[in-house]
Amino acid sequence: MEKELVISRAEIARRVDELGRRISERSPDGLLVVGVLKGAFIFTGDLVRAISTPLEVDFIRVASYGSDRCSSGRIRLSKDLETDLAGREVLLVEDIVDTGTTLAWLLAHLHDRGACSVKVCALIDKRRRRREKVSIDYYGFRREGFLVGYGLDYNERYRELPDIFELKAS
Ligand code: PRP
Repeated sequence: MEKELVISRAEIARRVDELGRRISERSPDGLLVVGVLKGAFIFTGDLVRAISTPLEVDFIRVASYGSDRCSSGRIRLSKDLETDLAGREVLLVEDIVDTGTTLAWLLAHLHDRGACSVKVCALIDKRRRRREKVSIDYYGFRREGFLVGYGLDYNERYRELPDIFELKAS
């Protein structure tokens, strides 16, 4: 498998700064930032350092039943939040929104847990295969293709790469 650099660490850093500024302006009273494991762990770490309003951080992890979540759409929680969400303003940080199945499930879960508002920040907004109507408040990049690096994996590999690459069958 070949990999081609598609988003450099410098582009990522610039975009994360912009997102942090915009989020800080729109949420001056503070936020609970919820990162979705594993893919969003690096993005969440960078983003919180670019936000200047007071915040807390928590993480959630979802897993799929069977091997093909996209077609089955069956999702279960494998690590829940440790924070009480009642009345909280949440910023949900995802690495990729593709079909939207995971995000729709997470939004319902956070509202069930009592969040008063949930905004979404996605590093990569892939719209071609979208099946669920979900709204994304902030996005880093709009790109299709199989991306790895900066937290994104292929069979658990490549998450540690500082830049984002597209994997191509050679
Ligand atoms: C990826 C990504 C989203 C989801 C998006 O998770 O982090 O949570 O898929 O796909 P969807 O919009 O089609 O539901 P993945 O299963 O790769 O787990 P990971 O974050 O642990 O790598």
